[in-house]
Amino acid sequence: MTNSEPLLDRFGRVHTNLRISVTDRCNIRCFYCMPEENVQFKPRSEILSFEEIVRFTACAARLGVNKLRITGGEPLVRSNLSELIRQLVAINGIEDVALTTNGLLLEDQLQELKSAGLHRLNISLDTLTEETFQRISRRTGIEKVISAIKSAIAYDFNQIRLNAIAIRGLTENEIVPLGEFAREHKLELRFIEFMPLDADDQWEHEQVLSGSEIRSQLESAFCTLEPAHRKDPSQPAIDYNFSDGRGSIGFINPVTQPFCHDCNRLRITAEGKIRNCLFSIEEWDARELLRSDADDMQIQQLIRDCVAHKKAGHGIDSTEFVKPDRAMYQIGG
Ligand code: 5AD
Ligand code: SF4
Repeated sequence: MTNSEPLLDRFGRVHTNLRISVTDRCNIRCFYCMPEENVQFKPRSEILSFEEIVRFTACAARLGVNKLRITGGEPLVRSNLSELIRQLVAINGIEDVALTTNGLLLEDQLQELKSAGLHRLNISLDTLTEETFQRISRRTGIEKVISAIKSAIAYDFNQIRLNAIAIRGLTENEIVPLGEFAREHKLELRFIEFMPLDADDQWEHEQVLSGSEIRSQLESAFCTLEPAHRKDPSQPAIDYNFSDGRGSIGFINPVTQPFCHDCNRLRITAEGKIRNCLFSIEEWDARELLRSDADDMQIQQLIRDCVAHKKAGHGIDSTEFVKPDRAMYQIGG
């Protein structure tokens, strides 16, 4: 096979999007992602170095990957992250680099992230209140997150998006205030359904607050939501514009409306395992190759093998669904 062939799987999906987890560590402990205590983090020696990440990404870019997302754990706890971003932005073929962060360490790093060439920011914001923030993250600090979001607006990123996980019994009362906040600051807001990727195996279907329920709540509080033009068919979110022209809202509904049929995403974990799905059971070990005398062609072949084995979908709602051993912080959101 030559390099020019796209990263095609058995279902005709072309993979152009790579999500890179740079650490499994985090400064908070969201219950939907991490255990509360005694988290077993990987030792530093097992985590890919910047050099290894850049080499791997350059291999992926030669296979047609053009979009990157940096995730964690919390990526901003990795020291000197902007330097990595600078190198990733410079890779031939990479057109778009985004960062997903919980926002706690963001404010101080905005300047260096912007000058490193970061294109887009996704900031997690499930609530505007300290009380709910603490119930979710088991740590303090919502005002730091809100302050970082307000500061980020001045930096002229191509996009700043807010991601909110919606959980029944916990965040129903957050929906409308979050909508108001996004409208006021002209930020895109996306609601994400809670997926079974928590570390404590507490996920229950009843806790999923569906996108359609949230949509009705927002429409009653504000005005009608009109379907927005879909720019990218592989984007997981369904976007709507408020009919009064003030802002837009997206819904990522992995549980009630799986979007696997258009998925173009590939992931590499902090310790260098390639995954073809959030819910993969199988992984492909890139670190082993990166730390051997393997050449780039072998790494590219490993990426192709991983994509070739991708399944049609995650099947969260089917009776055969098997939850992966890894929780979200060990995969990269
Ligand atoms: N379900 C849905 N989204 C999750 N995230 C973390 N855990 C889950 C889960 N169980 C998302 C958070 C965060 C990103 C890193 O991953 O919204 O924004
Ligand atoms: Fe940390 Fe993000 Fe996981 Fe929350 S969801 S514990 S912020 S990595």
